[in-house]
Amino acid sequence: MLDKINKDKLPRHIAIIMDGNGRWATKRMLPRIMGHKAGIDSLREIVRACSDLGIEIITVYAFSTENWNRPSEEVSFLMKLLVEYMRREIGELHKNNVRIKILGELEPLTTVTKNEINDAIEMTRANTGLQFNIALNYGSRAELVRACKLIAGDILNEKISPDEIDEELFSNYLYTTKDADPDLIIRTSGEQRLSNFLLWQCAYSEFVFPDKLWPDFGKDDLISAIYEYQNRDRRFGTVK
Ligand code: FPP
Repeated sequence: MLDKINKDKLPRHIAIIMDGNGRWATKRMLPRIMGHKAGIDSLREIVRACSDLGIEIITVYAFSTENWNRPSEEVSFLMKLLVEYMRREIGELHKNNVRIKILGELEPLTTVTKNEINDAIEMTRANTGLQFNIALNYGSRAELVRACKLIAGDILNEKISPDEIDEELFSNYLYTTKDADPDLIIRTSGEQRLSNFLLWQCAYSEFVFPDKLWPDFGKDDLISAIYEYQNRDRRFGTVK
């Protein structure tokens, strides 16, 4: 599989909507939360694969602003999984030079969750390998509104003038700040929509929608998605 892809033309930034955990569990007559638990194994495998391949940035959609509307047991389980994942994986991530960044609003999370995340960010701050963005309590529309508010504040404080606002400046006020835009966005489980994910950043992304449910998605599926990406004709609005 690995030989199929061109190592010199890898996407710089891969973003993933890890969809299908609930359906994976239901198919096995298990509670939905078991699907999320199984999803953690896929996440571990995919982050390792991206690090080994030399991908610059991976962004995963772990918890959206809309996910608060799920049953409270599922929400608490997802938060618990995140804390456990951090505790278990941080050593290896750090050893592999991975840098963790969060996209989203951490304030409403519990102190335990916030502390675990902040420790992971602090520990890996100076790492120079794979950047691992976790979109947590993230919604793209909220991100855009937040950017507008921050810009308005900086105008009021005379830090910037309205004339200075251009696409580059605007991007710097998003959670992704100076990150390269995602080249490839993958959504598993056959669903084909963005669900409020990286709406600004996806302007020229290539989309791949594998049918596999997230807990069944592994390294070979990632390689297949990269292969599909490498065979797309990216024109960025121009002609060749
Ligand atoms: C979508 O599947 C998945 C989520 C809402 C959560 C994704 C989270 C994980 C894989 C684990 C937690 C993340 C970290 C970083 C520790 P769904 O529940 O919507 O599945 P369905 O569409 O089949 O119901």
